[in-house]
Amino acid sequence: MFGISYLDISAGMGLTATGLLTFNFLLGMMLSTAYKRSVYWKKLPDAVKKFSIDDLHNWTAYIALLFVFMHPLFLILDHSSKFTFTNILFPLDAPKQPTIVLLGSLSLLALLIVIITSQKVIKKKMGFRFWKNVHLISYGTALLFLFHGLLMDPELKDRPTDWLDAEKFFSEFCLLLLIAASIIRYNYHRKHKTA
Ligand code: HEM
Repeated sequence: MFGISYLDISAGMGLTATGLLTFNFLLGMMLSTAYKRSVYWKKLPDAVKKFSIDDLHNWTAYIALLFVFMHPLFLILDHSSKFTFTNILFPLDAPKQPTIVLLGSLSLLALLIVIITSQKVIKKKMGFRFWKNVHLISYGTALLFLFHGLLMDPELKDRPTDWLDAEKFFSEFCLLLLIAASIIRYNYHRKHKTA
């Protein structure tokens, strides 16, 4: 009765990836501004300031990718879900909520593209402007996986979203955080047109 199913683990992996990616995007927005000159950064304890935001930004992306891969793998392990490996590659054939599953698969693909193009050798060959334009896909990716997470029924019973459910509330919180951070980032861009 209190056992945890593979489906529960899959949902947990999806939620962990959502949290990690949200944190990762916030770090990315920080890196694209002169955050070290900000009064808030200067007030932080030295123990926090000695962390390399660059490294943290890279590693949260790699760990998130690992969770994103494991999330559908645990789904396949749960035989009651009726999901197969093919459904990850061809989500429109998925047994439940195919269009919403598609949003998840597109997020996985976009995340892979952004991580691959950020590898030093490839980034150098692309040139800064082209690399940056590809990197900006991330804003769209965030919307895709957040709507995917909000609209998927974790029990795969085609139920409508329970917006007050704790897991859905977590995704709503991440969405609000990213909207607020994007507005701050956009205002920064308008003030410093070169950024
Ligand atoms: C960046 C990529 C992804 C993220 C961040 C993500 C995140 C999430 C989240 C947060 C949930 C809801 C969990 C809950 O409310 O308890 C979920 C559910 C689900 N996702 Fe994803 N997902 C991603 C990619 C994928 C992919 C590639 C598939 C492909 C099959 C997929 C299939 C599903 C399914 C079937 C569910 C409902 C069952 C469950 O909760 O495990 N997702 N996902």
